[in-house]
Amino acid sequence: MGSRLHFQRIKEGPPLPHNDDIRAYKREYAEALDEQDPLKSYRDQFIIPSKKDLLRKRLSDIEGDDESDPRCIYLCGNSLGLQPKNLRKYLDQYLRSWAIKGVTGHFVAHEDALLPPYLHVDDEGSKLLAPIVGASPSEVAVMGTLTGNIHILMSSFYRPTVERHKIILEGKAFPSDHYAIESQIRLHNFDPATSMVLIEPEDAEKPILSTKQILKVIDDNASDTMLILLPGIQFYTGQYFDIKTITAHAHSKGVLIGWDCAHAVGNVELQLHDWEVDFAAWCHYKYVNSGPGAMAGLFVHEKHGKVNHSDTGDISYRPRLAGWWGHDKQTRFQMDNKFIPQEGAAGYQISNPSVLDLSAVASSLEIFNQATMPALRQKSLELTRYLEHLLLKYPLDDSSSSSNENTSEKPYTIITPSNPSERGAQLSILLQPGLLDKVLEILEENGVVIDERKPNVVRVAPVPLYNTFTDVWEFHRVFTLACRKAVKARDGK
Ligand SMILES: Cc1ncc(COP(=O)(O)O)c(C=O)c1O
Repeated sequence: MGSRLHFQRIKEGPPLPHNDDIRAYKREYAEALDEQDPLKSYRDQFIIPSKKDLLRKRLSDIEGDDESDPRCIYLCGNSLGLQPKNLRKYLDQYLRSWAIKGVTGHFVAHEDALLPPYLHVDDEGSKLLAPIVGASPSEVAVMGTLTGNIHILMSSFYRPTVERHKIILEGKAFPSDHYAIESQIRLHNFDPATSMVLIEPEDAEKPILSTKQILKVIDDNASDTMLILLPGIQFYTGQYFDIKTITAHAHSKGVLIGWDCAHAVGNVELQLHDWEVDFAAWCHYKYVNSGPGAMAGLFVHEKHGKVNHSDTGDISYRPRLAGWWGHDKQTRFQMDNKFIPQEGAAGYQISNPSVLDLSAVASSLEIFNQATMPALRQKSLELTRYLEHLLLKYPLDDSSSSSNENTSEKPYTIITPSNPSERGAQLSILLQPGLLDKVLEILEENGVVIDERKPNVVRVAPVPLYNTFTDVWEFHRVFTLACRKAVKARDGK
């Protein structure tokens, strides 16, 4: 089958059905794409819940657990990534080392250990994380939680004065980012009403922010703005911002800029160092598959992480919230209460890391390092473009002989940018009013897992590590059915 189909493979992009080849809209086409996928073996490294699993009422109930049970269609890695199978190995080692070594586990290396002794486990986390975000190991730290890290970073980078006190953010920022900024402004005795600059989308239905609009807001507020905080990828629309251009523009106006990369890490090829991003923070439970609430990560550009020792013995560094784990490793245990930070992001650590938690992050980062971000991004572009292509074709109708967009009315629009370089894996689909609940009900009945943002958006994210073109095809089949039924129910037919 695969050999008879033609794929239009282009460097930037995705395989698209060829011309008006009707076979291109059949399941076999998706299966043929999967057959050719160079990353196809990675799916086996993850536990994909079966449809039966999703219906289970008890965790201990494994009766009828059969590998041949059909798997669910999981397109929700933008919310919570799936469990890597190798996590159990990391957790077993963690439990075993603690059990047999107690406190000496901090120092004793085991020949067959996946991670170094507890004392150095954070260094390993940084090493694994750096290539995923385009940084050097000294610029990143695996630590804390996303909102907590935003506060830690803002405490260091937001040092307002009467002349420069504003923070620019998007009007539809994720609530936690909004609250963090608002509370930081209040903590410095400024007023959010005059210190928070919200970039509001021009079209409320399709709330995309153009780079031009963002640059203009920066220009308009440049003289009294201290900081900008934006998302690398917007959680609602899936828009991928032009981090490089916006960062360079902010700097040209003397403004610092940080990025919330919750939806970008493990999704797109970040180059945080080369783009000269001042700081960034993210979580690891979405595309990085480290489990609900998993330990997060942060980036501090090397120019901000320097610790300067003068001839007179004075030490200078960027002020921050300090804790003992950020202290220089050589002298940390002297306990002399003279804080000397480690160089780089490690100097922003506050507490000793949870090895249990870091084991989960490392187990997933190991897989990312094998697969590599460029290869994952290439497949991601292809998967998402394929999904978009099918959605534009709606309804999928075998009797149609054309691959051009179908003219019958779609009860939805895609609000994510159509330019692949302006999005990651996720497409956000805006349904007509009155359809969402029914559509979700039918997706659930058919074992399709996606998520919704009320009132009318569903977010669908095929992720390249474990999703297939067949997952995308199957999603579209069920989604089409769900839309048809939902329209009928709404219109009382
Ligand atoms: C963009 C963004 N910022 C902040 C958060 C909050 O993360 P946490 O609860 O891990 O602090 C999330 C969570 O999904 C998010 O998507």
